[in-house]
Order: sequence, then C-alpha cells, then structure tokens
Amino acid sequence: MSQTASGLESATLARVKPSPTLAVTARARELKREGRDIIGLGAGEPDFDTPENVKEAAIAAIRRGETKYTDVDGIPELKQAIVSKFKRENDLDYASNQIHVAPGGKSVIYNAFLATLSAGDQVIIPAPYWVSYPDMVLLAGGEPVVVACPEADGFRLTAAALEAAITPRTRWLLINSPSNPTGAAYSAAELEALAEVLRRYPDVWVLTDDIYEHLTYGDYRFVTIGQIAADLMDRILTVNGVSKAYAMTGWRIGYAGGPKPLIDLMRKVAGQTTTNPASISQWAAVEALNGPQDFLPERAAAFERRRDLVVSMLNQAKGLRCARPDGAFYVYPSIEGLIGKRTPAGREITSDGAFAAELLDAEGVAVVQGEAFGLSPYFRISYATSDDLLEDACGRIQRFCASLD
Ligand SMILES: Cc1ncc(COP(=O)(O)O)c(C=O)c1O
Repeated sequence: MSQTASGLESATLARVKPSPTLAVTARARELKREGRDIIGLGAGEPDFDTPENVKEAAIAAIRRGETKYTDVDGIPELKQAIVSKFKRENDLDYASNQIHVAPGGKSVIYNAFLATLSAGDQVIIPAPYWVSYPDMVLLAGGEPVVVACPEADGFRLTAAALEAAITPRTRWLLINSPSNPTGAAYSAAELEALAEVLRRYPDVWVLTDDIYEHLTYGDYRFVTIGQIAADLMDRILTVNGVSKAYAMTGWRIGYAGGPKPLIDLMRKVAGQTTTNPASISQWAAVEALNGPQDFLPERAAAFERRRDLVVSMLNQAKGLRCARPDGAFYVYPSIEGLIGKRTPAGREITSDGAFAAELLDAEGVAVVQGEAFGLSPYFRISYATSDDLLEDACGRIQRFCASLD
C-alpha cells in the first residue's frame, strides 16, 4: 500500500479534495444544531418533494418483491423508459443497449471516466465547474484541464477557448448546461460552434451533463449537443438523471445514453464496484419518466420566480453584481466590488472564501465560495428553497455587504 503523509490515505485519494459543497451544508447543519439561526443556501437539491405517483410506484415495487439484484446497469423497463425519454424530449435515437443506469449522475460520470482514462489522459473542464468534475477525473487517474470561462463570455466555453485547450492527450470535453454553479445554458448556435471544432479532432469525446435540463426559464429552450451534431453521436455521452427534475436526490438514479462500446465498458466498471442501483429506486424512476410530466413546467415556474427575486435583491446589495442565468437553481454573483473592504471587526475581505466565512459568521447565511468552482471572486447561491427564506437570506446579504467598509 502506498503511504502518504497522513499514513493511511492512498496516493490517489490524496490528490482529491473533499466536496466543498457538502462541507458547507454540513457546517450549516452543525451551526443550526448549536442553536444559531442559519439559512443554508449551499445545497444543490430541490426543496420540493418526490411526486406521490413515484413514491407509490416504489412501494408497489417493494410489495411485488422487486428487492433483488438486477441487471448491473439497469432493468430493461427503466432502459426502455430512458430510450423513450431521449426520443420524446431530445429527439435522440438510442437503443436499449446504449443506455447505462447507475446510482446517480455522479456515478454515471465516474464510471465513464474510470472506463476510459489512462494516466495522463486529459479532460477539458470549463470553469466555473461542478465541484466534483476535476476530482472525479483525478480519482480515475486522468488530468483535469480547466479552462476559465469568464463572465464576459456568459460563463460559457467559446470555440476558440476549446480549440486552444485541445492537445493530443485530450480524451473528453465536458459540457454542463444548464450549469452548476452559474446557471448558464448553451444555445444551439454556441453548441454548433463547439461541434465545429470537435469535427477537426476525431479523438476527442464529449460528455454532456444535462441534469438540469428541465430547469430553464424565459425564452431559453434547452438543447443538447447530440441533437445538433448527429454526426458526432459515436463519441457523445449524454448524461442525465432524475435527481433534480423529479426531486429524487436521495433515490440515487442517474443514466446516460452513448455508443455501445463505451456503455459496455461502463457496465464492466459497475459490475466490479456498485453492482446495480437500488432495485426499488429503479422502479420509481420508471414511473418518474413514464408518468405524468405536467408538474415539471409548474416547478420550473416556481424556480423562475425565485431566480428573479434573488437576482433583483442581490443586485441591490452594495458591491455585488449578479447575472440572470437561463437555468438550474443557482446564481453566481461577483464580489469584485467588495475585495479589500473590511468587516466592522476590521477583518479584510481578501477572497471569496473570506467573504463566505464572514457572511456565515455575521448573518448566518451559508453560501459556497467561488474558489470551489474554479472561478473567483464569486460565490454560489442555491435558490432551491422557499421564497420567504430567500427573501430573508438576501436581506441579510444586503445588510452584510452594507456593513463592509
Ligand atoms: C452538474 C451536476 N451533475 C451531476 C450531479 C449529480 O447528481 P446525482 O448524482 O444526484 O444524479 C449534480 C448534483 O449536484 C450536478 O450539480
């Protein structure tokens, strides 16, 4: 066993950091237990409940005795529901043997990286990124190549930036739209521009993480790269899941459609790690995907209202600037105007990490610092919580910003 300074930790694990968003949630919970009045805006999960029909399907599955091992990468019924979903919502043609189901989108992505990355293989990750991407690449033995996507570009990867980042070792480009943490979503034209670059590099694959697909607002219409670049389908992995759209984070079901050779390799990984995702959750996901979908736009409308509330209140806070994103349930305001200012106790706001720590201390609002997502100085707010709490939290943020001098 290779030993590092900590003695027990493996050299591989020593390369990764614990999830900072889970850490913020845990810290907020701890302060709450101590009796502090805390509003947690760190967690990336909808506050809505799992729909009743989905719960009932799970209960029925238990009663039917669907409680045994299943096919490693998903029961046929769920794969068929996913095939139908991809056709119905994305106009993508996948066959059942091109579908992979795993315990969460996180597990799907990790299986893809473990299946394909060798030492030194690179994965292009546009920043700001979901905190887990670089660490999953590292755990799988690959090398994350982080490409900064500044606010001026709408936090989106441009064709020029993509082309500049590609090397002979590039294995994957990762796209996440709508994005965690910025909510930024790609238009068809923007994806087409990226596809045009990819056509010149036939060895580069694309992993598109579409988990926030159903959370889009205003005039924006969701589009995934496979839809507009059918010629690239033999190197696109389309990842999705039920966690965010159906408020099923605890059930742990994610899925992907992709070329059969890749799906076969991912099954090989799952067969020696997790085995199948929970049988009961799989039956619940069948109902989520095949059952009524009419509540999706209703929930999206609730999130849109919250987005507008949060963006408006944050833009009224002294020193903050907050873009209005097209999707997901996050905003990513800039604290550029507050760097160098001091709290009433005289402590300087030197970074977004300092900002988040002081805000939690002074006003009991838990947010996640931008450095966790690879682009500073910003912070992330998850607005997947009630309007009342959001109003209270944004009021506290305004008060905190006004107190800085
Ligand atoms: C961008 C993104 N992808 C994937 C996931 C994974 O979700 P799950 O593993 O619950 O399917 C998350 C969860 O926070 C996410 O934000």
